[in-house]
Amino acid sequence: MPFVFFIWYQHQGQGKLIEITCMKGIIIYSGKYGATKQYAEWLGEELALPVTTSDSINGNLLQEYDFLLLGSSVYIGKMKIKKWLKKNLSFIIGKKLFLFQVAGAPPEEKEKRETYNRASIPGEILNSIESFFLPGRMIMKNLSWGDRFLLKIGARLSKDSKEKKSMLTDYDGVNKASIAVIAAGIKSYLRRKTIGESQYTETVQP
Ligand SMILES: Cc1cc2nc3c(=O)[nH]c(=O)nc-3n(C[C@H](O)[C@H](O)[C@H](O)COP(=O)(O)O)c2cc1C
Repeated sequence: MPFVFFIWYQHQGQGKLIEITCMKGIIIYSGKYGATKQYAEWLGEELALPVTTSDSINGNLLQEYDFLLLGSSVYIGKMKIKKWLKKNLSFIIGKKLFLFQVAGAPPEEKEKRETYNRASIPGEILNSIESFFLPGRMIMKNLSWGDRFLLKIGARLSKDSKEKKSMLTDYDGVNKASIAVIAAGIKSYLRRKTIGESQYTETVQP
């Protein structure tokens, strides 16, 4: 539950009651090789929000937050945070939810990125979650043996020669500038939520 308090102020002969709502939020992320973690940390600094991995937070701890900024990378068409979302669904339903998805597919390929959302986010929250797509990073020599193997199989099965090549080629699209749109979206939400003018106004005698 957000913490609410009121401020009474006078302006040009009118007294107004201003309602201030303190929204408590947290960044919860799930990643593997550091790209999602890096974005979560940048966003944490920019928005002055605590940052944690999905493995370190569960139902009871979630109850104290009003909004969540979730972050996840994508592996074989699904977001890493998928299981966590399913397990904690009853605790996150009703909260304001933002999500940043980090993947190899370019953020402009919205349809593809939305497919990853649909494959990973429970139907109950799919339409209410506000999503953002961020460019990822993949450096072959840093991957586990298993992940390199999966990529090689994927590339072998792919019929598209361009895709085949790109699946096995290093890229690093991680950049701080791309968090700006997320930070602006959350700041605007908080501005709208934080200050509300109460119905109560009164003419003040001079
Ligand atoms: C085995 C493997 C499978 C992947 N599958 C996909 C995929 O299906 N779609 C995609 O866009 N990116 C895919 N990626 C790219 C990752 O999402 C990308 O490298 C991301 O930045 C990883 O972020 P992380 O370091 O936070 O885990 C895959 C990468 C690996 C290693």
